[in-house]
Amino acid sequence: MRALLLLLLLLLLLLLAGPALAAPDSAPPRFNVSLDTAPELRWLPVLSRFDRALVRAAVAQFIRDRVPEWVLARIRKAAVQLEHLLPQPFAGEIRGMCDFLNLSLADGILVNLAYESSAFCTSIVAQDSRGHIYHGRNLDYPFGNVLRKLTVDVQFLKNGQIAFTGTTFIGYVGLWTGQSPHKFTVSGDERGNQNILSILTISWLTLNDSENFERAVYKLAKTPLIADVYYIVGGTSPQEGVVITRNRDGPADIWPLDPLNGEWFRVETNYDHWKPVPKKDDRRTPAIKALNATGQANLSLETLFQVLSVVPVYNNYTIYTTVMSAADPDEYTTRIRNIGLPSR
Ligand SMILES: *[C@@H]1O[C@H](CO)[C@@H](O)[C@H](O)[C@H]1NC(C)=O
Ligand SMILES: *[C@@H]1O[C@H](CO)[C@@H](O)[C@H](O)[C@H]1NC(C)=O
Ligand SMILES: *[C@@H]1O[C@H](CO)[C@@H](O)[C@H](O)[C@H]1NC(C)=O
Ligand SMILES: *[C@@H]1O[C@H](CO)[C@@H](O)[C@H](O)[C@H]1NC(C)=O
Ligand SMILES: *[C@@H]1O[C@H](CO)[C@@H](O)[C@H](O)[C@H]1NC(C)=O
Ligand SMILES: *[C@@H]1O[C@H](CO)[C@@H](O)[C@H](O)[C@H]1NC(C)=O
Repeated sequence: MRALLLLLLLLLLLLLAGPALAAPDSAPPRFNVSLDTAPELRWLPVLSRFDRALVRAAVAQFIRDRVPEWVLARIRKAAVQLEHLLPQPFAGEIRGMCDFLNLSLADGILVNLAYESSAFCTSIVAQDSRGHIYHGRNLDYPFGNVLRKLTVDVQFLKNGQIAFTGTTFIGYVGLWTGQSPHKFTVSGDERGNQNILSILTISWLTLNDSENFERAVYKLAKTPLIADVYYIVGGTSPQEGVVITRNRDGPADIWPLDPLNGEWFRVETNYDHWKPVPKKDDRRTPAIKALNATGQANLSLETLFQVLSVVPVYNNYTIYTTVMSAADPDEYTTRIRNIGLPSR
């Protein structure tokens, strides 16, 4: 508790101090969340480690920055009906968090819906020369200074065992990055310009009973969604890596690794891989160049992290970088990036 407060205080000081004191990347705190606990209660032990006023202020700022007033007004009116439309356990998780934080249900729902059009992300899945699969991602988002303070690694426990490890923001119940140990890793990148995207686009509920890479890919490709998205999935065996381009009602394209033909990595940013990238936002070519320069034989979680640190793959909006490998679940590593950047 004290260590966490100190950490938060340190972060706050660094934020106040601005770019001159830019800190090295740091690991986010890691918490256990038990899926055997009722949805309304399961996040409370995590929330109790944060200053409620800080979280409330962050939520208020996030909503103020992102959500137009007229949308706010409508959602506030419709919050209770909306809650019934959300799938369980997410509705319960959101309600429980709101009660605990003394946030209105409308604000809690908004934070979970307001994943907006300006997210830029990069995901890479790759296979080294010995057949090991690695998966990395940058999560890029504007207004990151609030989110950097709320970034956490979470171990979701079932029967006391780790069922999933993921990275998320306090208050957000979906997961854009995570792994099922010894089974698969998943990240989600935004596709297209939607205004109110998300919720649960990447939901571990979908993957709840997925046994392995193949089942996970099947479900991620087929399950109806409320938004288009790219899913990047890694497995544990050679050739188990794929980029799924999703329409709401099904897969638009499935793009697997093809290491036998020299295609040992797949890079997905926020554009369909079969189309050229827009010149004004080309993070794809620099990532491919960096992977080419690394070479398949030198691929590791460390070198993948370095690839994800090449500008502009790494940029001022990068909130965190995660590297992971389903076969080596203990190596799951997240770093919060750009600590100390002026507000943006
Ligand atoms: C909870 O929020 C309400 C409305 O904003 C406020 O009136 C009340 O004092 C708050 N309660 C606590 C314990 O902070
Ligand atoms: C989290 O859960 C794991 C698996 O049960 C356990 O080994 C670890 O000690 C727990 N960590 C905390 C901080 O409770
Ligand atoms: C998820 O798993 C739990 C038990 O682990 C089961 O009770 C539940 O029905 C599963 N949900 C889905 C959607 O598969
Ligand atoms: C990466 O290497 C491949 C295979 O040698 C080559 O076809 C491709 O043009 C290279 N891409 C970049 C961006 O360097
Ligand atoms: C890659 O590995 C080869 C052989 O192990 C080594 O000679 C080379 O320097 C490495 N390249 C980089 C960029 O680390
Ligand atoms: C990132 O932020 C720094 C400091 O504000 C600024 O100097 C730099 O130009 C920015 N870089 C990009 C690519 O926007």
